[in-house]
Amino acid sequence: MLEPMRKLLLHPAAKPVVFAMCLLPLVWLVYAAFANQLGANPAEALIRSTGDWTLRALCLVLAVTPLRLLTSTPQLARFRRMLGLFVFFYAVLHLLSYAWFDMGFDVADIVRDIIKRPFILVGSLALLLLALLAATSFNRAIKAMGAKRWQALHRTVYAVAALAILHFFWMRAGKNDFGEVAVYAAILAALMGWRVWNGLRKRRAARAGASSAVVHRPATRTH
Ligand code: HEM
Repeated sequence: MLEPMRKLLLHPAAKPVVFAMCLLPLVWLVYAAFANQLGANPAEALIRSTGDWTLRALCLVLAVTPLRLLTSTPQLARFRRMLGLFVFFYAVLHLLSYAWFDMGFDVADIVRDIIKRPFILVGSLALLLLALLAATSFNRAIKAMGAKRWQALHRTVYAVAALAILHFFWMRAGKNDFGEVAVYAAILAALMGWRVWNGLRKRRAARAGASSAVVHRPATRTH
């Protein structure tokens, strides 16, 4: 069953299809806005939906590597950069919805709000990190930085996940409503936990490989 899927993932149409699917939430939101289907408070609905989609896209992009390794489907790696850029895209839409509908694009007011409300400050930090990751997501950046430094920088996506959960938690704390926050926190904790477990497993395997190489190395002749 996995083999046909692997072939499908390599199909030339796979990337455009995934791209179009990632745009569906935006298409739905634009349609709902024009069709008056966003409820009694459309501005709030837009800010919240774009925040939700940012978080969902973040879960999706962090699931790519575990899925790729657990199902031995290296073809999934083709989609990681695109999904990562969609996290940034929805985060920017979220910021723009807030800046427009809540603050009327008043920059001084936005800066005051960021300083006054800690949950907005935390969201802004997450967005700043995402901007850094998006700006360095291209092959030229990988070449310029070197693979090791690039990888270290891109591991900050886990800091983005932690900040996003804190942002969501803080926002909901006022309403004492933590159900959804707990679901996202559990998903992200599982994905981060897998990453730590996999890192430890790889290090242990490398250490075992190195020590068995020492044991099996043939004795060198000195004469
Ligand atoms: C990676 C970055 C971010 C993520 C993942 C994120 C995610 C979220 C989520 C999930 C919600 C709650 C939606 C709901 O209740 O269903 C939310 C709400 C909100 N976020 Fe963000 N956010 C981010 C960045 C930002 C930034 C940069 C700002 C503004 C500068 C911001 C402002 C807000 C506001 C104003 C709300 C709604 C508060 C309310 O309705 O009371 N967020 N965000």
